[in-house]
Amino acid sequence: MKLQMDKIGRAMLRVRSVAKRTTEDGFPRLLHNSSHAILGVIGLAVLCACGCQPTAQNSAASSPRKPNSTATRPGRFVTANAGSSEPLAPMPVLAPWKKDNEREKVHLGKLLFHDRRLSIDNSVSCASCHNVNEGGDDGRVTSIGAYGQFGQLNAPTVFNAVYNLSQFWDGRAPSLQAQVAGPIHHPKEMGSTWNTVVTRLTADKRFREHFRDVYPDGITIENVIDAITRYEGRLITHDAAFDRFLRGDEAALNEVEKQGYQLFKDHGCVSCHQGRNIGGNLYQKLGVMRDYFENRPTSVEADAGRFNVTQRTEDLHRFKVPSLRNVARTRPYFHDGSAKSLHDAVRIMGEYQLGYDLPEEDISRLVSFLKTLSGIVDRELRL
Ligand code: HEC
Ligand code: HEC
Repeated sequence: MKLQMDKIGRAMLRVRSVAKRTTEDGFPRLLHNSSHAILGVIGLAVLCACGCQPTAQNSAASSPRKPNSTATRPGRFVTANAGSSEPLAPMPVLAPWKKDNEREKVHLGKLLFHDRRLSIDNSVSCASCHNVNEGGDDGRVTSIGAYGQFGQLNAPTVFNAVYNLSQFWDGRAPSLQAQVAGPIHHPKEMGSTWNTVVTRLTADKRFREHFRDVYPDGITIENVIDAITRYEGRLITHDAAFDRFLRGDEAALNEVEKQGYQLFKDHGCVSCHQGRNIGGNLYQKLGVMRDYFENRPTSVEADAGRFNVTQRTEDLHRFKVPSLRNVARTRPYFHDGSAKSLHDAVRIMGEYQLGYDLPEEDISRLVSFLKTLSGIVDRELRL
């Protein structure tokens, strides 16, 4: 036990030393303020016991996290593990549809999300890079956008994105609403403009009617954003084996998977991948213990990570810690798509984030655990 705490303590210390420099942009004060690394661990556990709100926020750690979508306030969900001492929380159960035409708006959002006319050459829809029938991503190293252009980044999943503290690898969009314009305008994604999008949608009778049915002012930029983000806000994956386990079903995980979960805590993975999204609530450097970028043959602007947003040297190579939910379905891994398998990703995490080579058997147990994080998206939200 002591050994385990020491290990977590060391991981927390490392995280804390990075955290010290980041509190202003949303790093949890919990980690920053604790005078001992161990206190940080206990604090995390206590915080999680109180409902496990994601811990990164600008305000004090005790105040609830600001939801990043008005359409999908966490308060709308029923949280079911109050009182648990686990550092991770199950996905909340989706609340019933609200009365304000929510379901119709979500379905409109689904249509828009799958419509290629949102891209300038009518070649890609949001779903081309975020396939909701798979892992909510595109399975490519980096995405292919309008006119067949390659981007610099691996597409993250849209599943559960509503729970992230911000959107994009570098966190430059504070909310899902603020995110939508990104791909619409990005020359290597959809390469379009709002004007073009609204004009094209307005030319379609079906969209004119559909919008008029649910939005009194019809097709506007705001309503397109509202519908898409309401749809994204429902793309919550539920019923993962790990969620059933956290809710008390001991048999939901087998022995190897349970050992994997224990290792996830013992090695301190949980100090970065935490909360109900098992990530998505902190910015962390890729290469805390070793320089990940040192021996790489090429580097691109996006590798600078959060530095591109803040221009602060301490944010160089810092990224939003990705959620590990459904991670078994979102190959390849990392912002650059460089890790082909979950096994590689876990090994690299050990080497660069923890500073040691994980034994082979630990890697395979961790991978078994990560596979229990795959949940399902409601049938009516898929194609
Ligand atoms: C050409 C591929 C492509 C298209 C088309 C595309 N995306 Fe993305 N998406 C990406 C990539 C790549 C990123 C990561 C970019 C970054 O971090 O700078 C991303 C990031 C996101 C994120 C942030 C997720 C997170 O965890 O940070 C959301 C949400 C998202 N996209 C939604 C959408 C929506 C909505 C549309 C359609 C309006 C769309 N995307 C169109 C490739 C694409
Ligand atoms: C110091 C913080 C930190 C620790 C500790 C840490 N990670 Fe990560 N993890 C990250 C960051 C940051 C990324 C994103 C890196 C990138 O793509 O640039 C990441 C990415 C990943 C990914 C790839 C996810 C994806 O969608 O691309 C996996 C899998 C992962 N981590 C698993 C683990 C495991 C297992 C452990 C423990 C052995 C661990 N991590 C420890 C910060 C951390």
